[in-house]
Amino acid sequence: MIVLGIETSCDETAAAVVEDGRTVRSSVISSQLALHAPFGGVVPELAGRAHVEVLTAVVLQALEEAAMPVERPPLDAVAVTEGPGLVGSLLVGLSEAKGLAMGWNVPFVGVNHLEAHLFAVTLEHPEVPFPAVVLLVSGGHTMLVEMRAPGRYRLLGETIDDAAGEAYDKVARFLGLGYPGGPVIDRLAACGDPGAFAFPRALLGRGFDFSFSGLKTAVVRAVTRDPRARTEDVAASFQQAVVDVLVAKARAALHATSARSLCLAGGVAANSALRASFASLADEEGVALSVPSLAFCTDNAAMVAAAGCFRLRHDGPSPLSLGADPNLRLAFTE
Ligand code: KG4
Ligand code: ZN
Repeated sequence: MIVLGIETSCDETAAAVVEDGRTVRSSVISSQLALHAPFGGVVPELAGRAHVEVLTAVVLQALEEAAMPVERPPLDAVAVTEGPGLVGSLLVGLSEAKGLAMGWNVPFVGVNHLEAHLFAVTLEHPEVPFPAVVLLVSGGHTMLVEMRAPGRYRLLGETIDDAAGEAYDKVARFLGLGYPGGPVIDRLAACGDPGAFAFPRALLGRGFDFSFSGLKTAVVRAVTRDPRARTEDVAASFQQAVVDVLVAKARAALHATSARSLCLAGGVAANSALRASFASLADEEGVALSVPSLAFCTDNAAMVAAAGCFRLRHDGPSPLSLGADPNLRLAFTE
């Protein structure tokens, strides 16, 4: 089954062609980073318009790189993110996907962006041993999920305020490091002292929920008190606090379930310290580790095509009346 995936939920316009949910024939991503950088975050109105401008070209490039004719590409379906995300941006992808599916006379399937992030793991690691504990950490979400199999999820815990990526972005904005904050804090932290500041580790040892808003406030307070603090030290101490909590809760989740593997997904899964700590954690706990390569951690359309392939086989096509759902939740079946 060959699926064209389309992703426009936030600030990346992406299209990809994926075969049988695992062989990536092409994956094209057009980033809007430069457009939003001067504002220190994503401006929804600008994001929607930018998707309109480039989406068709991105789709054509994905078909071309997959060596497919544009007129009648040998596709079995068109999959698109239906939510969660920015409503204006989601609608651009949905309209394009419906038009293409109708024009090519192939099924159309809506995909949950969070489930797509989970499929970024199995896209590259089809042999993941289940059940798996997955930490899904992105700009909008932070959750620990027990994945019994593709499509079978149990929520163990999630953030009660900011997502981990949101904390990175807010702290970076406060430090004047630009948007997005994750990659730059990751880089600076490598040259800083993680013990320079004793930032709080919220809810540590207390269940599987997370809280990061107090950490952000603690960083603001510390830097206001000590304006000459080295940014590298602030970045390293902040990152250590985030990683400590994520690792401790993932360890507790492994203990509380009979998981055979540990997985990371979402944009923050690109973080070098988190990846290294998860490698040690999996090693210590004697479970397999599955982490997507960097290009499939942050938003992309290959994961959408992979999830779409699964959803189409599992539930069949979506109706063309399907709308965008900016607050769509992951469906927990367990
Ligand atoms: O999954 P994603 O591309 O979009 C959402 O679905 O939210 O995640 C974007 C988030 C941003 O908050 C960004 O700062 C963070 O992922 N991020 C990182 C790194 N690369 C991206 N956070 C920490 N370290 C990184 N290397
Ligand atoms: Zn995402």
